[in-house]
Amino acid sequence: MAPSAQQQLEIEGQGRRESAVVSNGAADEAVAGGAKSRVTVVGSGNWGSVASKLIASNALKLPSFHDEVRMWVFEETLPNGEKLSEVINQINENVKYLPGIKLGKNVVADPDLEHAVRDANMLVFVTPHQFVEGICKRIAGKIRKDAEAISLIKGMEVKMEGPCMISSLISQELQINCCVLMGANIANEISVEKFSEATVGYRGNKEIAERWVQLFNHPYFMVSAVQDVEGVELCGTLKNVVAIAAGFVDGLEMGNNTKAAIMRIGLREMKAFSKLLFPSVKDSTFFESCGVADLITTCLGGRNRKCAEAFARNGGKRSFDELEAEMLQGQKLQGVSTAKEVYEVLRHRGWLELFPLFATVHEICSGHYPPSAIVEYSDHTPKFSLLEGSARIL
Ligand SMILES: NC(=O)c1ccc[n+]([C@@H]2O[C@H](COP(=O)([O-])OP(=O)(O)OC[C@H]3O[C@@H](n4cnc5c(N)ncnc54)[C@H](O)[C@@H]3O)[C@@H](O)[C@H]2O)c1
Repeated sequence: MAPSAQQQLEIEGQGRRESAVVSNGAADEAVAGGAKSRVTVVGSGNWGSVASKLIASNALKLPSFHDEVRMWVFEETLPNGEKLSEVINQINENVKYLPGIKLGKNVVADPDLEHAVRDANMLVFVTPHQFVEGICKRIAGKIRKDAEAISLIKGMEVKMEGPCMISSLISQELQINCCVLMGANIANEISVEKFSEATVGYRGNKEIAERWVQLFNHPYFMVSAVQDVEGVELCGTLKNVVAIAAGFVDGLEMGNNTKAAIMRIGLREMKAFSKLLFPSVKDSTFFESCGVADLITTCLGGRNRKCAEAFARNGGKRSFDELEAEMLQGQKLQGVSTAKEVYEVLRHRGWLELFPLFATVHEICSGHYPPSAIVEYSDHTPKFSLLEGSARIL
C-alpha cells in the first residue's frame, strides 16, 4: 500500500536524519585514517564570504576538517589604498563585500590563487560565473589529485556545442568530481544567521555528498542532498531569469497577483527547459530549497529583482550595466547574462516559442521590447507538456 502523506513526510524526515548519522560515521573514519580534509573557498564576494563563515565555524567543530579555511581573494585596492586581502586578514571582515560580519579567525584570505588551492582536497567554487573558466585554466594541473569540488555558482556557459553547466565546466577543466549547492540563500540574511535551507546536488557518490552536507550544515542552515546535479544547478541558474521578470512587474507596479503569475509561469518554464536539456532531471527537485524556495526568495528580494525594478521604473532607458555599477557596488548581476545564454540555447534549438517568458526577458533586457512586454506576450497557455521526460507539443 502506498504511504499516506503523513507517512511520506516521516520517511523523508528519517532520510535526512540518517544522512546526518552516516556523515558523522564517515567523519570519524576519516580522522581515524589521519585524513583531515583541507578546504579552500575560491571566491570572496558576498556569498563567497558567507560560505567561508559557515564552513569556518564547522571546520573548528568537526574533527575531520583542518581548522584553517583558505579563501581566495580576487585582489582589489580599496579607496584608502589598502589591499582587500590584507584588510580581511587584519580585521577578519570582508569590508567590501560583507561589511560588519566577522568571518571567523580561522579564515585566511589569500590573493595568490595557485597557492590558495594547492593543498586543499575540498574546493568550494563561488565566483560570478563569467570568471570560472579562466580560474580553472589557471589552476588545472596544480591541484591535489584527490580533490573534490562543489559549485555554489549560478549561471551557465553557452558554447558552440551547446550549454555547459558550471559544475560540468569545473569537472572537465580540472578532471575532478563536482557537486553543487543551491537554495533560497540570500547571503546577507545567512550572514546574520537567519534560518534557511539549501540543497546539495550530487551525481553518483553519496558519501561525497554527505561530506559536503556536513561541511555546510548548521542549525540555521539546513542542508539536504539529492541525486540530481543538473536539476539542482538549473533551478539555481534559471530562477535569476524569472527574478528579472518579477523586478519588471514591481517596477511597473503591477501588483502581487501579476507577480505570482510570473513566478508560476517562470517555474513551469524552468522545469520544462531543465527536462528538455537533461531528461534525468527529477520533478521532486523543484520542491527542494533549490527549486520553489529559491525562486520565491529571489523574486521577493535579491539583486536581480532590485535592478530589474529600477530598469522598469526608468522605462528601460538606463542600461543594466549602468544600474549594476550604481546599485551593486562591485557585486555582479547574474540574471541578465543568464537570460541571454538561455535565449541563445532556445534560438539554437528552435525552442523560442515554447518559452515565451524566458525569451521576453531577454528581449526586454536587450532593449528590443519595453518592460511592459513582460505581460504582453501573445500566449500564456502552455504549448507543450513534458510526459515522462519527453517533450510533446500540444
Ligand atoms: N550573494 C548572494 O546572495 C548569492 C546567493 C547564492 C548564490 N550566489 C551566487 O554566488 C556566486 C558568487 O556571487 P557572490 O555574491 O559571492 O559575488 P559578488 O557578486 O558579491 O562579488 C563579485 C566577486 O567577483 C570578484 N571578481 C571581480 N572581478 C573578477 C575577476 N576578473 N576574476 C575573478 N573574480 C573577480 C570580486 O572580487 C568579488 O569577489 C554567483 O554565481 C551568485 O549567483 C550569490
